[in-house]
Amino acid sequence: MIETAIQTILPTALYKLLKLLPLRSWQFITQADQRLADYGLTALHAHRALYPTLSPAQAQECGDMLGPLRLSLDQDTGLPMSDAQIAGNLATYILAGADTTPAALSFITWELARRADVYAKLRGELEAAAREAGLAEGEDWRFEQLKELPYLAAVVKEGLRRYPPTVMPMTRVVPREGLQLSPAAGGEMLEAGTYVCASPWNLQMDATVFPEPERFEPERWLSATEEERKRMEESWMPFGLGVRACQGKL
Ligand code: HEM
Repeated sequence: MIETAIQTILPTALYKLLKLLPLRSWQFITQADQRLADYGLTALHAHRALYPTLSPAQAQECGDMLGPLRLSLDQDTGLPMSDAQIAGNLATYILAGADTTPAALSFITWELARRADVYAKLRGELEAAAREAGLAEGEDWRFEQLKELPYLAAVVKEGLRRYPPTVMPMTRVVPREGLQLSPAAGGEMLEAGTYVCASPWNLQMDATVFPEPERFEPERWLSATEEERKRMEESWMPFGLGVRACQGKL
């Protein structure tokens, strides 16, 4: 996986040659795929030790991604996935979630540190909600409680708009029947097999949809009219869109 990523930048032949370089730090990088696979297998074995048999209800209850994964079927064969396939999927989750989530949280925390007004408002909302929920000092929030808080939602949404952790274009391939862009406006016809891509960054920094796009402004999500909000939602895609959209999106 990491090797594939490197090979999108370096020609394969050059990478094969470079792989032989006996530098410890470089070897550490080239062996990353194997380490991820080993980690996935260790996690799978630990999960099996905890849940030797797994019913669909248990798979949901165990509250992790390994439960549903252990019950998933290979789409091609219809058979349960092999250990290597499960470990491979886990490695994808680790790669997909380990960089994006901290990046999003870091940018949001940074904005909260710079913007006393946003921080005070968010803190006020959380304190009021904690009082209402009767939350004791040091007691953890439950996700169900937090997702009901409008200002917190606006802060997170605006953070993911202003600093989308994945800025690269999301590539899709035009299907067999071809595709017309904006059919109502008689848009261009794209041939089957054409690569099409859109970047969250371009959409989310469009000043016609998000005035002063460089400004971190959670209020824009709360004060927008219905029509404005609809356009903003259509242009907000930090998790991608469609069948290949992020599986970690809640
Ligand atoms: C703020 C956090 C995250 C952001 C912004 C994010 C963003 C993205 C984006 C942009 C894609 C590509 C979607 C596309 O091509 O349309 C993606 C794919 C994916 N993400 Fe996330 N992600 C986040 C967290 C996570 C977490 C925590 C997990 C899992 C534990 C995860 C699992 C995945 C997987 C498995 C895919 C591939 C989906 C597929 O190709 O079918 N992501 N994510």
